[in-house]
Amino acid sequence: MSLKNEINSRRTFGIISHPDAGKTTLTEKLLLFGGAIHAAGAIKAKKSNRYATSDFMEIEKQRGISVATSVMGFTYKNIKINLLDTPGHKDFSEDTYRTLTAVDSTIMVIDSVKGVETQTHKLMEVCRMRNTPIITFINKCDRLGKDPIDLIDEIEDKLQLSVCPITWPIGMGNYFKGVYNLKTQSILLFTANTSNEKPKIIKNIDSEEALQLIGELEINKLKEDIELINGIYPNLNKDDYLSATTSPVFFGSALNNFGVRELLNEFIELSPTPQPRETEIRTISPEESKFSGFIFKIHANMDPKHRDRIAFLRICSGKFERNKKFYHVRLEKPLKFSSPTAFMAHEKSIIEQAYPGDIIGLHDTGNLKIGDTLTEGENIKFKGIPNFSPEIFKYVINEDPLKTKQLNKGIQHLCEEGVAQLFTNITDNRKIIGVVGLLQFEVIEYRLKNEYNASCRFSEINYNKAVWISSDNKQDLETFIKNNKNQIALDMDNQTVYLSETQWSLDREIKENPSIQFRFSSEI
Ligand code: G4P
Repeated sequence: MSLKNEINSRRTFGIISHPDAGKTTLTEKLLLFGGAIHAAGAIKAKKSNRYATSDFMEIEKQRGISVATSVMGFTYKNIKINLLDTPGHKDFSEDTYRTLTAVDSTIMVIDSVKGVETQTHKLMEVCRMRNTPIITFINKCDRLGKDPIDLIDEIEDKLQLSVCPITWPIGMGNYFKGVYNLKTQSILLFTANTSNEKPKIIKNIDSEEALQLIGELEINKLKEDIELINGIYPNLNKDDYLSATTSPVFFGSALNNFGVRELLNEFIELSPTPQPRETEIRTISPEESKFSGFIFKIHANMDPKHRDRIAFLRICSGKFERNKKFYHVRLEKPLKFSSPTAFMAHEKSIIEQAYPGDIIGLHDTGNLKIGDTLTEGENIKFKGIPNFSPEIFKYVINEDPLKTKQLNKGIQHLCEEGVAQLFTNITDNRKIIGVVGLLQFEVIEYRLKNEYNASCRFSEINYNKAVWISSDNKQDLETFIKNNKNQIALDMDNQTVYLSETQWSLDREIKENPSIQFRFSSEI
């Protein structure tokens, strides 16, 4: 197959949602359709851990499962679909943000009972940063949820995203009868069902059959709704979806496997093929014959005896080949990979080649970091894999001076893996760990002990944000650093960071120092 055909037959996406909206259930149903799993419940095991308790065995188990489910590949109607898993728990949201840099589109799951929730909002903001197209799936229609009009209004208001309903629910909760497909003008009849049998379709809304199966009252209400929807929402303009200004909306129930096939069918029709990617100097088109890709995730020490790491690479252009030498731009050296793996649902297999849109796992002994670019020799760096400002900070205190080396190495590795961010204060060289959620400190402490035999504790510091600072005016920047030297640190890439104590003091500094740029993510 030509490179162009390989590209056109791929879709790489992620599912975003607030925890409990139904992401895992939907993922499972999509994999069932793709034939990648054969029974519901296969990835549900994942749910056994909600991170609610500090059960460290559970953290380990979760890590094991998340390697297996980080990328789930399946084929549907001759399209190779790569579904990238995004952790739902907010304490791990940085991992989700980074994963979203490797997708070309997303499906947003909303719980019809709860509407738009906080985590959905945050993830939506990340999608907006890169104009990632979004398809919305309003789930749990078998429960008595909010009014569908209110739900789509909520998406428009809270997420500032225009919508275009493709299907529309007929009743909700106990009275949920099915959905009306506004495109095909047919009714999909609901039955509580967990297998992947096709639901019954009623082609004519005015038919006797519709009247019998849906009921007069409901049919009349549906007709009113259709008139209203058609009046407010014009037909979907694919370009508006692709430019991420409009989201097509589907209603259904993942648990009952209802509306999922329609979602998947429309997804492969609409969703973008692997897209061009920005580097610091030019845009790379997937059709370029020379290979390029970037690392967006690292998973370390699955077997602590071997210090093994798997780096996840998104291929952006050309063809990746096993055992071919590629250029590691940051280290300025060639590297070759003898056992690159592809992920097909739960199975990993060694691959000979891979194409744009594909995600492959590279075994690494410490050469690769999140954000690294690999090419066939060109000196480029892909943009868009920023660190975001953490919100909780603590000093690291070494509990065992004989294990200082192990501690430093462990912290370095875990931060490279993206578990937390490391800052070093420029005045006293003290190490500061910054995280998004408190749970990460427990993970770090546990993993340092178990994987590096190092012990540490954390002590409180009163910072609320790490803000990357820069300026065209060197003198002003130097003065600012000098005046605030106790609150200045370097991140792992030696970029200068201002650690603010309160939002109020940060706002004041921003106001009083107009020549200095304060950035809430590390990307310039
Ligand atoms: P998440 O990955 O987004 O966190 O959500 P997940 O799929 O785990 O679903 C959260 C809960 O919502 C689960 O119930 C799941 O069964 C339920 N759910 C998902 N889709 C639907 C739906 O369409 N209708 C209804 N009524 N429920 C749905 P649970 O009780 O927490 O878990 P379980 O015991 O069912 O596994």
